[in-house]
Amino acid sequence: MSFPLLRVSNLSVEFSTYGRTSRVLHDVSLDVPARSQVALVGESGSGKTVTMKAIMGLLRQPPARITSGEIYYDGADLLTMPEKDRLRLRGTAMSMVFQDPMSSLNPVFTVGDQMGTILKYADKRLGRSRSRRERMVRVHQVLEQVRMRDPERVTQAFPIMLSGGMRQRVLIAMALLSEPQLLIADEPGTALDVTTQAQILKLLKDLVEERGLALLMITHNLGVVRETSNYVYVMNKGAIVEHGETAGIFDNPRDPYTRSLIDAVPRLTGGTRPSGEVTA
Ligand SMILES: Nc1ncnc2c1ncn2[C@@H]1O[C@H](COP(=O)(O)OP(=O)(O)OP(=O)(O)O)[C@@H](O)[C@H]1O
Ligand SMILES: [Mg+2]
Repeated sequence: MSFPLLRVSNLSVEFSTYGRTSRVLHDVSLDVPARSQVALVGESGSGKTVTMKAIMGLLRQPPARITSGEIYYDGADLLTMPEKDRLRLRGTAMSMVFQDPMSSLNPVFTVGDQMGTILKYADKRLGRSRSRRERMVRVHQVLEQVRMRDPERVTQAFPIMLSGGMRQRVLIAMALLSEPQLLIADEPGTALDVTTQAQILKLLKDLVEERGLALLMITHNLGVVRETSNYVYVMNKGAIVEHGETAGIFDNPRDPYTRSLIDAVPRLTGGTRPSGEVTA
């Protein structure tokens, strides 16, 4: 059997703070095949971001410690490969979309400058080079891909001059700059109003489908899972408690925790509503 694009295998992580050690991931295993749309869902504190950081090599060790497991990207174990090989993958083949645009963008540089710099470093890691002018062509190209109407104006703008939705689009554009194969999105758009968030999620989904990317969508929101994934892993207290085709999990949750997540979807009216509808 061939390897999926991303495979997390029996990953366990603990944190040691102030002399106390607590285990926050317990034998987490998940697969993200090429071109697939996979969600990792669980309530706050269940370990989603720790999983994402371990995959991206962003866990600070210490205080964290990976006590067991492997993380394979394209068949190669990220945890044992030389750091320089891992750096070459991060932000290039595997890319991330963060939740909060304002803390991910630098307020004192224009969007064009920031995107140009990201591209320059990604190129460097990949042993490529292009002129400033060529970089700007690529920047405009990805801004158009994220359906930005006026890329010229956006590149010249400072982050504060853009709306929340536009800033989130810029973050997606940044993640696409180096033509990744895998996008990991940790709660994208949760800082936005519901309508704008829905547009952003639709855009992400369209982009991964158009470009044949794999998507790992990390969220606490079952509505987001339903909209963006075909396959879902449910995480509770640092362990995967259930996984399967998204539709099947919604129609027939087997694990009591999954059922409780579905039941916990807030209701605005007294009547019943389809499980997983978003309000948060
Ligand atoms: N630097 C750290 N030191 C100690 N414990 C940590 C650290 N980072 C995370 N944890 C613990 O790991 C657990 C999982 O946290 P994580 O951030 O992965 O949750 P999450 O599922 O992403 O939650 P949310 O939906 O709120 O983002 C939590 O119990 C948290 O307290
Ligand atoms: Mg998180």
